[in-house]
Amino acid sequence: MTDDILEIYNSVKVSIDEANSQSDLDEIRVSMLGRKGLITDKLKGMSLITDLEEKKLLGKSINEVKNFIEEQLSSKRSAFSEKDFLESLKKTHVDITLPGRQPSVGAINILTQVEEEIVSIFNSIGFGVAEGFELDDDYHNFEALNIPYYHPARDSHDTFYVSDNRLIRTHTSGMQIRLMKDIKPPIAAISPGKVGRRDAIDAKHSPVFHQVEGFLVDKNVSFNDLKGILELFCQRIFGSRTQIRLRPDFFPFVEPGADLSATCVVCKGVGCKTCGYEGWIELMGAGMIHPNVFEHVGYDPKVYSGLAFGMGVERIAMLKYGITDIRMFYENDISFLKQW
Ligand code: PHE
Repeated sequence: MTDDILEIYNSVKVSIDEANSQSDLDEIRVSMLGRKGLITDKLKGMSLITDLEEKKLLGKSINEVKNFIEEQLSSKRSAFSEKDFLESLKKTHVDITLPGRQPSVGAINILTQVEEEIVSIFNSIGFGVAEGFELDDDYHNFEALNIPYYHPARDSHDTFYVSDNRLIRTHTSGMQIRLMKDIKPPIAAISPGKVGRRDAIDAKHSPVFHQVEGFLVDKNVSFNDLKGILELFCQRIFGSRTQIRLRPDFFPFVEPGADLSATCVVCKGVGCKTCGYEGWIELMGAGMIHPNVFEHVGYDPKVYSGLAFGMGVERIAMLKYGITDIRMFYENDISFLKQW
């Protein structure tokens, strides 16, 4: 090694030993190996040397020093980064003894829970389940249910038409027609599902909501059967002391038609704000299937009779759990949903 290369070697060894940080190392690298660095300079100067033997020896010693610097810099660099990492750990104060965070677990939506409860009550007394279509046609939603195109009952069932003949079903009653056309009596079925109406949104109305339809067709089905089934249902869902009241009402697909109320779940019939101080709460429409409906599906109304009812799932859930605004079901507010 020539004297000046030895000198570079000695001085760079000292400065690497004394370096205290990554930036000290950077400085050394630039001053030695950078574009204008000492080693780079020496390498460039070799082109002026003509003696081949001398050139070879010099090249070898410059390269030795260069390799030495590179090795030293990189091992010092990894020592520094480990040191920096340990320092940063000290600054962030991670307490590894803290308990971990529990990931939150989802739950079945309250509307689904109530729907399932309604379904299981009817299952337990022999009703099967048949889900219909959210998009239905005019015939199943209206015509076959004794609601011809000129009937004023269509006004309250205004809805979204996808085409002239295809619409978002306004109730689950259309399922009665499909099932009766498919199978012969006796039939006992319920049909839960989503429906839509052109209703303005307020605390009690939503343009999309859920219903559960129920119907039973056989020989000699009577209004008494309807009353018994619905009383049993109300007592199972709201409590064994619940009483029911049936008052005449009009639905084109039943005759006679009725509106069913149950004793108010809040005041048990005494009268309170929830029931408008009446003691009763309207729950669903019901009645005996109209002969015109039987004719549409090819059943002889003189042989068969049937009962039908339809209820809103949101309404049942609101009464059961004291929910005062239907909009809460669809706002996806976790603190509301978490309660169930
Ligand atoms: N389909 C009716 C409605 O949505 C409810 C109903 C069902 C009434 C069955 C009578 C019989 O309002």
